Amino acid sequence: MKKLYLIGNTKMNLDFSKFKKYFKLLKKASKNTKNFVGVCLSSPYLDLAQKCLKKSNVHYGTQNIYFEDEGAFTGEISAKMVQDFGVDLQIVGHSERRQYFYETDLDINKKIKKCLTLGIYPIFCFGENLQQRKENVTKKIIRQQLNGALSGIEKQDFGKIIFAYEPVWAIGTGVTATSKQAEEIAKFVKDYLNKHYGIDNCIFLYGGSMKPSNAFELLSQQHIDGGLIGGACLKVDEFSKIIDTAIV
Ligand code: PGA
Repeated sequence: MKKLYLIGNTKMNLDFSKFKKYFKLLKKASKNTKNFVGVCLSSPYLDLAQKCLKKSNVHYGTQNIYFEDEGAFTGEISAKMVQDFGVDLQIVGHSERRQYFYETDLDINKKIKKCLTLGIYPIFCFGENLQQRKENVTKKIIRQQLNGALSGIEKQDFGKIIFAYEPVWAIGTGVTATSKQAEEIAKFVKDYLNKHYGIDNCIFLYGGSMKPSNAFELLSQQHIDGGLIGGACLKVDEFSKIIDTAIV
């Protein structure tokens, strides 16, 4: 059986009472799975996550951290701070961070390195936007994003990075990349990491409108190891259908 990595991204959604119910249901939904289940939530609810998800199979983290440990960085939250709440996963470089908060490949590189130093698994997001796909520069853009984000990272640390291909045109739009499109990039990235960094394999997620109706098809692809799930993770009954996916 293929072990799948299924990680939710709740984005800026839910509140204290909703998270309380959510964690309870997610813990139950993940109880018997052999898949890796995680959720990345908003920092204010980490204390609650830690309390509700202890003694569960559910890994958790947040959606952004800053790469410095402490100092005069008003409004930022460090990876070290979130780690106090048992975080072992961390989204880095999501396209919404790149787009609305002007995160650069260099910021992302520093954030990945900080997570690795602390033993937190960074979920490194990358992917092209619609115009770039139309202009047929998808692979060039992905190469740039990979090279920028991975610069200076030691070979032995690559196994701790979770790679998440999220074509921007598929995020929150209801438009999913076809399994063929997603698999093509998965193979491309794995081959590229092999050729340029000497990496034999990595965990590769697809993200962008993954839902129960398309999850099996996407997750069955040879080079795809899991999904980063936004909208469909907000309802545990939908997320749990994805969590239950079994690929032999
Ligand atoms: P979506 O979001 O599943 O709602 O498209 C995925 C993501 O942005 O991580």
